[in-house]
Amino acid sequence: MKIEIVHDQQQGAQLVVEEFQTLLARRSGAATFGLATGDTPLAVYQQLAVSPLDFSTSTSFNLDEYVGITPTNLQSYHYYMNKNLFKYKQFANSYLLDGQNPDQQTVCENYEKLIAQHPIDVQLLGIGRNGHIGFNEPGTSFESRTHRVKLSETTIQSNSRFFDDQNQVPRYAYSMGIGTIMAARKIILMAYGANKAAAVAKMVNGPVSVAVPASVLQRHPQVEVILDEPASTGLSVK
Ligand code: GLP
Repeated sequence: MKIEIVHDQQQGAQLVVEEFQTLLARRSGAATFGLATGDTPLAVYQQLAVSPLDFSTSTSFNLDEYVGITPTNLQSYHYYMNKNLFKYKQFANSYLLDGQNPDQQTVCENYEKLIAQHPIDVQLLGIGRNGHIGFNEPGTSFESRTHRVKLSETTIQSNSRFFDDQNQVPRYAYSMGIGTIMAARKIILMAYGANKAAAVAKMVNGPVSVAVPASVLQRHPQVEVILDEPASTGLSVK
């Protein structure tokens, strides 16, 4: 794992944008990006939106989506992506999990097929306070592929900040599995703020265990972890 400590999200985002630029140049634009949502990658999308980077021959996949809410729901990850990135940058193909389709087998199998056709060059990740990646909660198999997930109480509570009240937070989501994420050629995980420090420390210095989904990244050959100082305070080696 390569660990970079940055001043703030803007500086972290700059590193990501540079990586994207290099990848686009190397793949003549035909690259595949794995995208994430949440507060953490916001600065990346803001910088991409005003950058000259051209994604018109690239493909994107999003990590996850809530089940049971429409793409126009302000809290859906579809809405988030349109608002923060796709409105400014068009990709040749942008794939998101269809949270409106209750047929989980079809949704998940189709997504895996598409990813197999367009292997992900670089996957962006945030991390949950309980160490989740995507919506892969503690206990999820490292071999898991795209699946429907029952969200943990910690995640529901933590994500309730985006909803009017906790009862509106969907209880289920579709998410790339840990095996799906690990198949990406490169992974960039960002974490900012003191409330991520414990999860970051377990991910980097703790044993590799399904109890901390992000710890699996210790086994990936190309991982970059971008942290601000507060998120890095629990690390034993910096
Ligand atoms: C959510 C998402 C994750 C995200 C994480 C952290 O539950 N499913 O993909 O990385 O929580 O979110 P944030 O970046 O807002 O802290």
